[in-house]
Amino acid sequence: MAAQPCLKNCVPALMNWYADHARPLPWREDNSGYRVWISEIMLQQTRIETVIPYYHAFLEKMPTLRALAEAPTELLMKCWEGLGYYSRARNLQKAAKQVIESGREQLPTTYAELIKLPGIGEYTAGAIASIAFHERVPAVDGNVMRVLARLSASYTDLLSTAAKKEFFALASELVPEKDPGQFNQAVMELGETICLPNTSPHCELCPLQKMCRAHELGIADDLPVRSGPKARKVEQKTVCVLMTTEAEPRILLHKRPETGLLAGLFEFPNFSGSLDDREVSKALNQLGLSIQNLQPLPGAKHVFSHIEWLMSGYFGIVSGETLPGGYLWVTREQMKKQYALPSAFRAFLPFLDHISQEEG
Ligand code: ADE
Repeated sequence: MAAQPCLKNCVPALMNWYADHARPLPWREDNSGYRVWISEIMLQQTRIETVIPYYHAFLEKMPTLRALAEAPTELLMKCWEGLGYYSRARNLQKAAKQVIESGREQLPTTYAELIKLPGIGEYTAGAIASIAFHERVPAVDGNVMRVLARLSASYTDLLSTAAKKEFFALASELVPEKDPGQFNQAVMELGETICLPNTSPHCELCPLQKMCRAHELGIADDLPVRSGPKARKVEQKTVCVLMTTEAEPRILLHKRPETGLLAGLFEFPNFSGSLDDREVSKALNQLGLSIQNLQPLPGAKHVFSHIEWLMSGYFGIVSGETLPGGYLWVTREQMKKQYALPSAFRAFLPFLDHISQEEG
């Protein structure tokens, strides 16, 4: 299917607009494959403002592909703490190890090779190959699909496989030989700053307004079509913030299993269901811990992509030296510097500080 002639006219208009309006993002200052890769993986599912400090910190600790391949898992997870979707970080390291083990020090430079690496799909391979290595390939994510759906006045459901095909084909025709990476980033930029999701595109500011079929038809607010997400499964949990009363109090953490949700990260001990204080005491006794003082904490909710945790909380002063496997005592300092605590549990942290100050 040939791109409609008016859509081809978008390319120079978009490139001119981007030349004047590109935001000075850190990964645009250095287009090395490694840096573009790290930024693109971080930007999946995460907002630009959130990513920026993580991007700098990550590169400071792991400035090269080899440094990433050789980094201890604990450091890798600490650098990712709070970003979510931790398998992204694990796949980064898996891919880095794979490249280093193949005898190379740099990321491959073509779409065809990049897409073979763990964690690199069509979008990411397209983004890295075009931005870092100037290969003429598109980079189509949800953001870009929205722009293209409006430009072409397409009612195809963005969550369908038909949409992936349709917009990949359209983007493939539009992406120019010269500066393909700039073009791909220009579409992303337009989607992030002007052609916004939901019903609020800033058509009055859009450099493509005159070429946009949805605007012409007055349907920009109705597009794109996106079938509703499936309802998330809700799980109840009881989270226990447990401390000793030493001069430097220690906090009990548990290492999550190496597979599944939040694999291998650390958490406050917790139990399935919404337990009352007697049930919590009993569960902790079964772990070999004696509780001196158990108080309820305000609950918290955490929403993952497919699951939602409704957490009730308890605080307790604990003794008990022998711990079952997977449990460990850590100081507040160690927790800050060394152990990655996922965002789901961070709602309970301020309370811990409050108690530490009172106790100390
Ligand atoms: N989103 C993902 N990658 C991006 C990039 N390179 N520029 C702007 N937004 C992005």
